[in-house]
Amino acid sequence: VVTAGVEYPANVYPWMEAARKYGIELVMVPEETDENDRRQVRLEKILAALDQPRVRLLTLSHVEFASGQRHDITQLGKVCRGRGILFNVDGIQSLGALPVDVQAMNIDFLGACGHKWMCGPPGAGLFYIRRDLLDRVRPVIIGASSVINDQDYGNYDFTFKPDARRYESGTPNLSGCLGFGAALQMLNSVGIDAIAARLKVLTDRLINGLELRGYQIVSPRANNAWSGMVCFSSAKHPHEELMKMLRKEHKIEIAVREKRLRASPHFYNTETQIDQLLEVLPTH
Ligand SMILES: Cc1ncc(COP(=O)(O)O)c(C=O)c1O
Repeated sequence: VVTAGVEYPANVYPWMEAARKYGIELVMVPEETDENDRRQVRLEKILAALDQPRVRLLTLSHVEFASGQRHDITQLGKVCRGRGILFNVDGIQSLGALPVDVQAMNIDFLGACGHKWMCGPPGAGLFYIRRDLLDRVRPVIIGASSVINDQDYGNYDFTFKPDARRYESGTPNLSGCLGFGAALQMLNSVGIDAIAARLKVLTDRLINGLELRGYQIVSPRANNAWSGMVCFSSAKHPHEELMKMLRKEHKIEIAVREKRLRASPHFYNTETQIDQLLEVLPTH
């Protein structure tokens, strides 16, 4: 199993558990400083890792949580499909911000909770599996709703539903699903292409301002690696203190991840708000 070296733990520990249980090997391709002084896990290095014999699965965040790097999912999906390698994508940092097309990108499995860029409530999310793989991926959580006769309670015909509903084992989080549905309707009424275009404008503006104020930009932006997240660092000001100062004194929320500051404006943010953040960040 191949993944990135700086990957969100939700996409690492399950594979460590698989390593413990089944003896698979987890290969983490390291993050590097690129020619523009940005941090990224290079496409060529991931491709080289896939080139090793006995690779069965690539599991990657579409957008990495600590660098904001958007991977070239289309290219990786093409290579995986060509070699019979399964491709699992964590879409939580891209769905709702950037276009995703599971078929065009040759994604086999896609998972995401709805509470980030999709603006849904926590505790409701989505899972996609390519139809052809249903019988290769046996549900690990099985309940009354996993089977075809899910209303015929006393008839214990243990036959899974013919589609991905076999993974929905019991009563769902209905209130969460309703909120998630409403959030998706709202996003679709704006349109994902318009949202992505807006995020490019806002994040470009933020990066320009940060550079003028002497911050080091961590997020790669070239070759379509940009995303809605801007990760940056300061050589002078402690990151935790900056984050707390913004929260307390200005009601501005940014995060600290892997010793980096991370700002994640969404389409509803304004240029004025980006400028307000820049104005209150200390210079170098
Ligand atoms: C890449 C990535 N995956 C997953 C998650 C969330 O995972 P979970 O819904 O399991 O808390 C996050 C959020 O912080 C993330 O950045």
